[in-house]
Amino acid sequence: MPSFVANANQHTGVKALMDNGLVTIPGRYIKPPSHRAVKHLIVPGVEIPVIDMAALESDREEFVQTLCMASSEWGIFQVINHGIPVETMQGMVYGVLELFDLPIEEKMKYYTEEVFVPVRYCTSMTPSQETHMEWHDHFQHYFSNREKEHPWPEKPACYRRLASSYVSSVKHLSQTLLSALSEGLGLDSNCLAKSFGDSEMILRSNYYPPCPNPDLALGMNGHTDSGGLTILFEDQVGGLQARKGDLWYDLKPIKNAFIVNIADQLQILSNGKYKSIEHRVLVQPDQTRLSIVAFCNPSRDVVIGPLPEFIDQQNPPLYRSTLYEEHITNVYTKYLDGKHSQKLQIN
Ligand code: OGA
Ligand code: NI
Repeated sequence: MPSFVANANQHTGVKALMDNGLVTIPGRYIKPPSHRAVKHLIVPGVEIPVIDMAALESDREEFVQTLCMASSEWGIFQVINHGIPVETMQGMVYGVLELFDLPIEEKMKYYTEEVFVPVRYCTSMTPSQETHMEWHDHFQHYFSNREKEHPWPEKPACYRRLASSYVSSVKHLSQTLLSALSEGLGLDSNCLAKSFGDSEMILRSNYYPPCPNPDLALGMNGHTDSGGLTILFEDQVGGLQARKGDLWYDLKPIKNAFIVNIADQLQILSNGKYKSIEHRVLVQPDQTRLSIVAFCNPSRDVVIGPLPEFIDQQNPPLYRSTLYEEHITNVYTKYLDGKHSQKLQIN
C-alpha cells in the first residue's frame, strides 16, 4: 500500500514517526536548553491534595473548605470517590486508543490548527507557528453551545457511545465542583456557573508515544489552562508536573482518580484567590502515555473579569476584563510559554 503523504503544511504526528521506526528525534522536537526539564528543580513523587468526594454528602462545609484551600494554595488536586464508574473511564480509554490507532489517512481527515472546529486532530499545539514542537498528538472536540448535534467521528464504531457517556459524566462532575468552588468563595453555589454563561467544553485526548531522546524534548510545554476548570484522567505512566515557585512537582497518579486544576478564568473571576497552576508533561523513553482532558469553559461570548464581590478600595482588580473568545484565540494562535493569566494583569 502506498504510504500516506500529508501536504507540506501538515505534520502527521509523533505516533506516526515512532510507528515508522524512528530512532533519533528530528531537530524540530529538540528544545533549546533553556526550555528543557532541569533535574535538580524537580521534586519527585509529590502528593498533591487528595479530595474525597464522599465527604460532600457527610460534611459539605468541610468539603468546601478543603476544596477552597487546595484551589488557593495549589490550584491542583486529585479527586477520589467522584462517582464516575470505572467502566466509563476504561471504556473511554479503549475508545481513544482505537481512535489513535486508525490509519493515518483517516486521522488526517480531521487535521487542523483551528480551535473552534468540532473535531480536530493535530500534533503539538500550533505546528505552523512553533520553532520547537511538543512530543504529543491529540484529538480535540469542541462542544459549542451553538451546535445542535456533535459530529462524532464514525470510526472507530465504538467511539461515539463511549465518548458521549464519558462527556456527560465529566460534565456532571464539573458542575458539582463548580458549585462547591462558588461556596468556597462565599458566593451562591450557582454564581460561578452563571459567570460562565452557557458554558462550553473542550475534550482533548493527548497521546504521548515513547521518545527516543526524552531529555531533549517535552511532551507539553509549561502552561496554564485558559478556561475555567480542567478535569484530567491519565493512565499510570506519569510525567505530569506542576510548578510552584521555581520547582516542578512530579505528580503521582492515583488509579482511577481525576486530576483537577484551576484554570485562568477562575483565577480572574476570584481576583487571584484561586490559582491557575502552571503544568507541563515529560516524556518517557519506553512507554506510551495517554491523558484525557476535559476543559470546562465559559461561553465564548462572555466577558470575564474579577467579580465585584472581590473588589473594593483595598482590593483593586488584578486583571482586566476580556471576552473569553479573545483569550482562547490568543492562546492558540500566539504560542505562549508560561502563565497566560499574567498577561492580563493590570500592573
Ligand atoms: C493539557 C494538559 C496534561 C497531560 O492538555 O492542557 O495540560 O497530562 N495536559 O496531558
Ligand atoms: Ni494543561
